[in-house]
Amino acid sequence: MVRPERGGEVGAVLVTEAVIGRRVAELGASVTEDYAGKDLVLVGVLSGGAVFTADLARSVNLPLELDWIAVSSYGDGSSSSGRVRLVKDVEADLAGRHVLVVDDILDTGVTLAWLLEHFRARRPASLHACVLLRKPEAVLEPVRPRYVGLDIEPVFVAGYGIDYAGRYRNLRSVHKVLLPEDG
Ligand code: PRP
Repeated sequence: MVRPERGGEVGAVLVTEAVIGRRVAELGASVTEDYAGKDLVLVGVLSGGAVFTADLARSVNLPLELDWIAVSSYGDGSSSSGRVRLVKDVEADLAGRHVLVVDDILDTGVTLAWLLEHFRARRPASLHACVLLRKPEAVLEPVRPRYVGLDIEPVFVAGYGIDYAGRYRNLRSVHKVLLPEDG
């Protein structure tokens, strides 16, 4: 998949701040119910998952531990390499604990498949994933997150943690990216 590198800009809102807020609250309530009484570790995937993870964590009413992993799956910034490189690992010992990996978007699934394999080797008591957005038509890897905020069409998006050419992660809504060829 070719990823935009430069020349475009963000366009119309695809998912509003209000819809995101509502889904984050609902996901937080589900996580609270499902993990009650369990030793939960939320692992946010940097950088795209930082905003969603921070909001989700505050919507979960449990004494969870919050940790972070950083991976890079698009080495040259313009096309999917299909490979994932570990940039920063978690600090927490995950053995025997309930691990929930939190990321902003499930596109091909290459990143999440790699992450789940990476964490499975740590022998957690359970291992699941939560993504805010999923592009069902793009998913190539057989990964099934336990929690999905919204399914979206296979277009480039930016905002709410997701970047376009390194920018726009701070937008409160998720926007479509307008590529130069879109006119
Ligand atoms: C994005 C996103 C996911 C991944 C999903 O991260 O945050 O981690 O791509 O794509 P996939 O399902 O096709 O693997 P990216 O590698 O762009 O880095 P970033 O999180 O730093 O923006």
